[in-house]
Amino acid sequence: LETNKQIDIKLQEVCNLLKEKIDHYDWVGFYFKNGEKEELKLGPYAGVPTDHTIIPFGKGICGQVAESNQNFVVPDVQAQDNYIACSITVKSEIVVPLFVNGKNMGQIDIDSNTLDPFTEDDERFLEFVNEQVAKIL
Ligand code: SME
Repeated sequence: LETNKQIDIKLQEVCNLLKEKIDHYDWVGFYFKNGEKEELKLGPYAGVPTDHTIIPFGKGICGQVAESNQNFVVPDVQAQDNYIACSITVKSEIVVPLFVNGKNMGQIDIDSNTLDPFTEDDERFLEFVNEQVAKIL
């Protein structure tokens, strides 16, 4: 069994790698369900620090995915009402839920400084990443 510290080191490496290697990924982070609370807590991330380390279910793109269990692709964040801005440079976002034994335990969240960059390839790729991550949690 891996310790939380070992898991966080691996997740940090995943974030760093994705941000570094994929041009349109400018902020990459994991949020996880915070114990029994109806909120998300920020885990490892790569990119500028965010004030939004706790996000209530239903709030923002992340909070909506916590309830919908569905991928959420946002081509233009300015067109979203229920959106939490982390940085003024961000133009688009993709959030893909992370399932462990069929339960939505968190998500990978990617921000991009490019407008409308995310395709179905990103969705399939990030689903794959989350499936691998689920195995080490
Ligand atoms: N934009 C997200 C908040 C998290 S930051 O992107 C890191 C949202 O609307 O839920």
